[in-house]
Amino acid sequence: MSETLQTQTSAAGTPLAPSERYAVTTRLLHWLVAVLVLATWPLGFLIHYVNNDAKMDFYMLHEGFGFLVLWLMLVRVGNKLIARKPPAEGSAMEKIAAESVHGLLYLFLIVMPVSGFLATNAHGFPLKWFGAVTVWSPIGKSPEIAGTLSAIHEWSAWILFALFAVHIAAVLFHHMIRRDATLYKIL
Ligand code: HEM
Ligand code: HEM
Repeated sequence: MSETLQTQTSAAGTPLAPSERYAVTTRLLHWLVAVLVLATWPLGFLIHYVNNDAKMDFYMLHEGFGFLVLWLMLVRVGNKLIARKPPAEGSAMEKIAAESVHGLLYLFLIVMPVSGFLATNAHGFPLKWFGAVTVWSPIGKSPEIAGTLSAIHEWSAWILFALFAVHIAAVLFHHMIRRDATLYKIL
């Protein structure tokens, strides 16, 4: 493939040159975490609405996937420190906005599983990962802080939702209005 084709950034889907995309590890982690979060979030939300027979399965899947997000995010933080990052598009203000939203997404993707994990332990239900592995916790049953941890988990879930909405709006703005190559950087 010629250099011209490799670096073309049209909306027709022509690939970018490798140096213009996120590193392969960053792209893999982005989509792995995205799929898990897009499953974990609704599973958590629906726990309150499903009947008692299904509740336990929803808890197991929600907590199992959510806990996986924590470990992937720790790998992702390490990856962010060392992996190649393509240059950002847009004005200085846009770059600051994008960095801030990405940073907050990282933060809440760690706050979510940590608060959920601590909340379930504080309520007296230690995590048995996918029904198979009992996970050690720094706290045991602690009714005095269980409600606060649950509230942090629930509020953070809505903040994460809002950040995700801003993220998708920004992606659509770049792709449909600016018609730049932002989307292709992560594909
Ligand atoms: C990325 C990770 C996670 C996301 C996005 C997430 C999201 C959510 C959402 C949206 C709810 C419903 C909140 C509401 O009713 O308004 C919820 C509830 C809940 N989640 Fe998670 N969660 C995550 C990880 C975890 C983990 C790792 C655990 C436990 C090991 C956990 C335990 C719970 C529990 C017990 C509830 C029921 C309500 C409560 O006591 O707070 N979550 N979660
Ligand atoms: C489902 C559709 C999604 C699409 C189309 C998408 C698209 C993108 C694009 C195009 C970028 C590069 C932005 C840039 O360089 O300015 C990006 C980066 C990023 N996305 Fe998404 N995304 C999706 C889902 C998610 C979800 C669910 C999350 C987390 C809740 C997320 C978190 C991030 C983060 C933190 C970055 C910064 C890259 C890094 O440093 O790891 N994305 N995404």
